Amino acid sequence: MGSIMNRTILPQLALEELLEHARGAAQQSYSPYSKFKVGAALRLTSGEIVTGTNVENVSYGLTICAERSALVRAVSQFGPAIRIEAVAVANLNQAASPPCGACRQMLSEFVLPEAPVVFPAADGTRTMTFNEVLPLAFEMKLK
Ligand code: THU
Repeated sequence: MGSIMNRTILPQLALEELLEHARGAAQQSYSPYSKFKVGAALRLTSGEIVTGTNVENVSYGLTICAERSALVRAVSQFGPAIRIEAVAVANLNQAASPPCGACRQMLSEFVLPEAPVVFPAADGTRTMTFNEVLPLAFEMKLK
């Protein structure tokens, strides 16, 4: 746990706590097809922690990732003004699982650019800021 390299705005202890929530959420995974159990935990600027897990479907493409589960849950519970100050992802498969591209794009509407994103990488738990993880999110600016 002390091995998470953290140079971000949130204290180490808060990130470790968030990672524990992500691990807990992964226990609830519905993943009979991939057997890949993922959990995500979002820390909101209000201090609330919201978790999610991946929920698969026999029509594989309908599967929702843990990160987007957590996000839709957070908005449903606390409303559209939420801001996310940290993201943690865990899996129970001892594998790397950075948030997928679709989840990064979805998170980008609510997450602070400097928010730490903690995830299992090939070489252990890694922490990056959100804007490092997604440098060029799609935005729609109509003229
Ligand atoms: N998965 C996530 O929950 N988060 C990610 O960022 C990547 C993939 C899930 C989706 C699917 O249920 C399983 O992992 C295998 O792809």
